[in-house]
Amino acid sequence: MDQLEQLREELLAEVANASDSVSLDAVRVSALGKKGRVTAMMKGLGGMDPEARKATGQALNVLKGEISNALEARKTLLEENEISVRLAEETIDVSLPVRPEQEGLLHPISQTIEEVAEIFAPMGFEVAEGPDIEDDFHNFTALNFPPDHPAREMHDTFFLPLKEDGTRHLLRTHTSPVQVRVMQNTKPPIRILAPGRTYRCDYDITHTPMFHQVEGLVIDKAVHMGHLKSCIIEFVKAYFEVENLPIRFRPSYFPFTEPSAEVDIGCSRENGELKIGAGADWLEILGCGMVHPNVLRSSGIDPDEYQGFAFGLGVERIAMLKYGIPDLRTFFDSDLRWLRHYGFAALDVPTLAGGLSR
Ligand code: PHE
Repeated sequence: MDQLEQLREELLAEVANASDSVSLDAVRVSALGKKGRVTAMMKGLGGMDPEARKATGQALNVLKGEISNALEARKTLLEENEISVRLAEETIDVSLPVRPEQEGLLHPISQTIEEVAEIFAPMGFEVAEGPDIEDDFHNFTALNFPPDHPAREMHDTFFLPLKEDGTRHLLRTHTSPVQVRVMQNTKPPIRILAPGRTYRCDYDITHTPMFHQVEGLVIDKAVHMGHLKSCIIEFVKAYFEVENLPIRFRPSYFPFTEPSAEVDIGCSRENGELKIGAGADWLEILGCGMVHPNVLRSSGIDPDEYQGFAFGLGVERIAMLKYGIPDLRTFFDSDLRWLRHYGFAALDVPTLAGGLSR
């Protein structure tokens, strides 16, 4: 019995001295494991006479229970301590000043979207969003693309695998499906701006398979083309921050607007250098038009009561033009040197009063 008492004291001391969960587990194995000290004594019971076996067996069971409880209690305590130590070590003092060499920068795409939203906000436009994964109805059918019309192919659509019911989802090829979603869910008057990612299967110096657009939509009882024009002219002047910037509306075609126009701004190209402003050349920057009655109807709005206009612009394109970024593909290379060159200070938010793009 003395031997048992001694073992008990030794094991409890080992448990109490274990300073982390790894060494505690080693104690458990050395006591209760297959080759552990308590286990070995259990095995020795077979060679004892019945009286002694009974008494020692009971005592060993009590010891085993005691050690298990001590191990369990120590384990809980150690785990709690480990959590407190981690919490104390990982504390961040959020009031410390930013370390300039680690300061994050805003990607030109985020900056450009902020600038566009900042210009349209005072005109009453609210930001709306829609899903990147769309269905055929919202991306094409409701936007007045006839079934099997080549315009659907024109967009180089990424399709998702066919589903059992024969339909398939797709990655939206433009932000125009957000028009449909907003009209389905809102009673006019509507005035929204929808920035987001769009996808087309294309890749070269001016195309990437993913790019960004900002969609605008205005629906009310007496909205006309004059409103569309003044809205766009105001935007273009504010965005490019160039005095007397020439702007022209050139007739165009989109299935979802009638009449449709593309908007060009003046520029000059001298010695391979592109300059925005009065010059001999024009650059296309956005598409727009009066929302087609079929689109209103598909979206649950009565074209005899309401009408409106929509526009869509390419974010990368206007960012490249304003900030002189020559290659579209570099936007998505995640090259830190590029970001340090073209990025914007995160806290220097664009405002009309303070300047959009200092
Ligand atoms: N969705 C068109 C495109 O991606 C742009 C557009 C939007 C044109 C709204 C007119 C009206 O090319």
